[in-house]
Parts: sequence; C-alpha cells; structure tokens
Amino acid sequence: MKTRDRLRIAMQKSGRLTEPALELLGRCGLTFRQSRDKLFCFGEGEPVDLLLVRDDDIPGLIAQGVCDLGIVGRNVLDEFSLTAGRDAEPLNEWRPLGFGRCRLSIAVPQELDYQQARQLAGKRIATSYPGLLGEWLRTHGIDAGVVTLAGSVEIAPKLGTADAICDLVQSGGTLVANQLREAEVLLESEAVLAGPAVLPADERGDMVELLLKRLDGVIQVRESRLLLLQTSRHTLDAVTRLLPGGPQPTLLAVAGQPDQLMLQALCAGEVSWRQLEEIKKAGAREMFVLPVEKMLA
Ligand code: PRP
Ligand code: ZN
Repeated sequence: MKTRDRLRIAMQKSGRLTEPALELLGRCGLTFRQSRDKLFCFGEGEPVDLLLVRDDDIPGLIAQGVCDLGIVGRNVLDEFSLTAGRDAEPLNEWRPLGFGRCRLSIAVPQELDYQQARQLAGKRIATSYPGLLGEWLRTHGIDAGVVTLAGSVEIAPKLGTADAICDLVQSGGTLVANQLREAEVLLESEAVLAGPAVLPADERGDMVELLLKRLDGVIQVRESRLLLLQTSRHTLDAVTRLLPGGPQPTLLAVAGQPDQLMLQALCAGEVSWRQLEEIKKAGAREMFVLPVEKMLA
C-alpha cells in the first residue's frame, strides 16, 4: 500500500457517536471542512482527515490500512477481533473515550423466570454479535444456538425465530418495548480510539502520538471538577474523608472567621448530588462544583 503523509481517521457517518466524536476531535484542535454528506472531510489545521463510514466497517478499514485510526464502539472493535481471522492485522484499543456508553447483554422474555446462565442451554439466541456471544457461551460452558441477524434483533423472540437475544442496551427502552429483560451483561462498551497494534513508523506515527497526548489532556480536564466548600475546623476531618478522589485539597482561611476554612479540591470525576448531600451532612456549607476548562500543572 502506498504510504500517505496525512493521517486518516474513520468514524461513524451518522449515529450516536458522530456528534460527540466530532466535538472531542475539535477539542484536540482538529477541525474539518464541513462536507457531512460526503465520505471524506479534509482537515484544516493539522494533516488529519476524516472518513465518514458505517461503524461496522471501521475496524476493517483500519486493518486494511485504508485508515490509521477509528472512533468506534468497543463492541464493534472486539467483535471484529474475534471474527476477522488469523490473517487480519491485529487492532488495539488505544484509548477509551468516555461517551457512547452501553452494554452488550443477553435478554430474555419477561415471562421467563430467569435465575442463572445454565437456563440458556439449548435455547436459540439472536444477535448481530456472534463472535462476542459465541465466546461468552464457550467460557460459560453453555451449549446454545446462535442466530445471526443484521438488525431488528429485539423482535426475534416475538417472531419465534429465537428464544432470547444478545444486543446493545443503553437506556433499556428497547427491551421494555419488546417485553424483554436483561439477563446477563457480556461487555461494558463505550466509544474508543482504535488503531493498529503497531503504529506506522513514519510522520503519521508521530501525529498519532501527538493526538494521544492531546486526547489524554482533554479527557482528564473533561472529567475533572473543582469542588469548593466552607467548613469549620472541627468538621474538617469528617468532610475531607468524604471528598471524591483527587489530590490533597487546598485550605484557605476565611477573613474574620478564625474557626472557618474554605476548602478547594480537584475531583477526578463527576460529583453527584448524593455525594454533595453526604459531605454537607458532615458539616460542609456553601458548596460549589465547577467544571474545569483548562489545566496546566
Ligand atoms: C441499539 C441496540 C438497541 C438499542 C438499545 O440500536 O441495537 O436496538 O440501541 O438502546 P436503548 O436501550 O436505549 O433502547 P441502535 O439505535 O444503535 O441502532 P441499530 O440497532 O440500527 O444499530
Ligand atoms: Zn438496535
């Protein structure tokens, strides 16, 4: 294959991952000439172009060297790795990207009294993920039939073509609408940055490393929150014990109130209402959770 000097990233043309993927690349300083109806978007700032395709095609495009990287669900990447055959170029999950979270699950009709995986023996399970389902059945020693369908998997039990399904679950709405319930979780999935296990040795490899560094910075900041609160000195220990992760908090004196302290803590992830309520119970007041825009240590 002729070498290219511009990096090429494949992503879903239109679907749940499209908008957040473009947003993430934008934060990494990659912007593209808008031609969304087209297959190809030329990168304006950096020598990085986009290929907009069906998400199922992304791992294959990387394995063939048509693209250098792809933004795709872990479910699609892992399914490819299990079914592509020995000769295919091995792919790597370079980074989890923190959006498009869902799970690949086996679901059964609601009226079935499901207790354990052994009940799936002898059943027919419809799925678009025969590789992942087959592997799970093997590791659990369950002998079940795998019915491979390209789509509309969730209506297979009603049509009588399968007894159970194995499909992606996000909100669970599709399962409820089809009188199914989740029985087993096979894989926790999210969007990932996929690429060849061995990066290209030319300028494109350098560009991938630069992109990975920017991604790490963007992801770290995106997940960080600054927590500000006031506490009295005698509740400080109790409050500090409840702080979610992150480095040691900074303490500031409050003018004119020698017993009071301002506490400032960088938290590694979301701070939930529940966590805030617990911290408040321990003695904190005037609490603020702020998003972090940029960070330079
Ligand atoms: C996925 C999956 C389910 C649905 C689950 O399909 O196949 O049908 O999402 O989501 P829910 O739990 O929020 O209802 P998707 O919308 O990606 O389309 P596809 O089936 O055509 O790939
Ligand atoms: Zn679906």
